[in-house]
Amino acid sequence: MRAAADRGTAALYDRAALMIRESSGVVAFCGAGVSAESGIATFRDAGGLWERFDPMEVGTAEGIAEAVVRAPGRILAFLREVHATLSRAVPNPGHVALARLEQAGKLDAVITQNVDDLQRQAGSRRVIELHGNLYRRRCVACLRTLPPSRKDFLDSVRPLMDPGLVPSLAAVLARAPRCECGGIFRPDVVLFGEMVQQLSDAFEAVERADMLLVLGTSGQVYPASALPGRAKAAGAKVLNVNPTEDAFSHLTDIYIPEKTGIALPEIVGRLAS
Ligand code: OAD
Repeated sequence: MRAAADRGTAALYDRAALMIRESSGVVAFCGAGVSAESGIATFRDAGGLWERFDPMEVGTAEGIAEAVVRAPGRILAFLREVHATLSRAVPNPGHVALARLEQAGKLDAVITQNVDDLQRQAGSRRVIELHGNLYRRRCVACLRTLPPSRKDFLDSVRPLMDPGLVPSLAAVLARAPRCECGGIFRPDVVLFGEMVQQLSDAFEAVERADMLLVLGTSGQVYPASALPGRAKAAGAKVLNVNPTEDAFSHLTDIYIPEKTGIALPEIVGRLAS
């Protein structure tokens, strides 16, 4: 049974590699699943971020502002988890395979919903970040942004990691990173209710593509979730890699029920041979 299943999966990798080889414009569309094997919890899987934290509290500007006043301990708990996770996270073999595919001239762009910067850290150059980048800072007063720096982000959050810190609005504000203008820096990420970034770049990329790799996303957050449908309508073939769900089954040409950190190196390895 097991050998037959392995042969079935190998055949899917062969088909996926052939489809990429025969395509002239391949684009990847990624979700949290691509970073799961870097130790970053997804949002909606069992034990995911939205099971342990309320997205309306830590994922909206109003929720954060209110919680900093009423329940700063919950914001600090969230920041501590983010800090601990990100200070350990490094690109996994799925990110690296996508970077190799671009270097081989077979991948035009990576569109990602992830804010963790791991795709760039893996070496990809054309990365469209729909939900922003946690390591880029934006001043809430003068709107100036600073280029992404993982080190600066981790350093700026570290003062809040002190276990002896008594959670209070004053404690959080005193330790918040500040712009030269005096305003507070926030991570340049898209919170619920805010405008998605680089959306026209993403739509242009999928409309030009003749193959879209849909990787590790539940497809539940609009407008990003509209991209596979737009690619399909423009004539692209669609490959979906996701160990547990084929969220785009109505438009998927090949579905591979596997982790991206396993499937992508297999597929990209076949292209090299
Ligand atoms: P979700 O948490 O909704 O979905 C993660 C998907 O990854 C699921 O379909 C899992 O089956 C799949 N998955 C889990 N482990 C995987 C692995 N090792 N390899 C491949 N796939 C795996 O995350 P997203 O679809 O990215 O938005 O969520 C979209 C947006 O919702 C996020 O960008 C975030 C969130 O609210 C904002 O913060 C604005």
